[in-house]
Amino acid sequence: MPLVTTREIMEIATEKGYAIGAFNILNELTARAVVRASEELAAPVILQTSVSTVQQIGVEYLAGVLRILGTNAKVPVAIHLDHCREPALAIACVDAGWTSVMLDASHLPLHENIALTRQVADYARNKGVSVEGELGAVGGVEDQINVSLNEAHLVNVADAAVYAHESGIDIFAPAIGTAHGLYRGTPELDYERFRAIRKVVPLPMVIHGGTGLSAEAFLKLIEMGASKINISTALKQTYLCSAREFLVRRSQETDPLRLDAHVERAIREMVKEHIALFGTKGRYMARKAR
Ligand code: 13P
Repeated sequence: MPLVTTREIMEIATEKGYAIGAFNILNELTARAVVRASEELAAPVILQTSVSTVQQIGVEYLAGVLRILGTNAKVPVAIHLDHCREPALAIACVDAGWTSVMLDASHLPLHENIALTRQVADYARNKGVSVEGELGAVGGVEDQINVSLNEAHLVNVADAAVYAHESGIDIFAPAIGTAHGLYRGTPELDYERFRAIRKVVPLPMVIHGGTGLSAEAFLKLIEMGASKINISTALKQTYLCSAREFLVRRSQETDPLRLDAHVERAIREMVKEHIALFGTKGRYMARKAR
């Protein structure tokens, strides 16, 4: 089926009370695992790409692989560019076939963030592509962006209203206390801030830093209107741990394809666990039956 934009599937998710997993894939193997898991559970999904993955594989080549996987899938698939600080790269991805891009200018003063995001949003809108923007600073390391605990700060509600109105974004990612990477203790999420933002920003909401949040936190955020949840670290960990475990257990293995099949299965299971937690299981069927 044709690819879908992130905004359209998030709007349905917000209305129906579930969230779509956005999994940061690393290559064809991991993208295939994510699509297969979603097909097994009849769930819409977002294939999310970090900037370093795009740079390593190349815009055109990665677009080709993901578009083939997405258009051949039995469930709706969106292709999203995560945390991009370079408008030129975001625009190249729009042109190559991504269905949404995140322009992350959250490190800049509000008016500069708005001006830069607006350039990409105006371009993307003409091509039918959604744009995600972020305010506040999500702590931790994501790809090439490292925000220390001292630098991390929560989104300001009044700024969020101005930003959402003036930047032209379709999807909003507010920093409410989650972090990229692994949590050291239990994260303190500011649910009241999230609720306040929902009142002044009439856009679908994204939660960054999904790896390691409790089932309770996911449910609460989804109930409050989060409809896209980003998972990157859990995929990387599953990739490396399952490969390590296989190679130790079968040190005489001669066929790399068996290693790939093992890793693919492990990632598929991890993705299915998250899809079940996010309430997305069976949602595509439910939508078709409407
Ligand atoms: P995690 O590192 O918690 O998986 O967060 C991923 C993310 O938010 C990507 O933008």
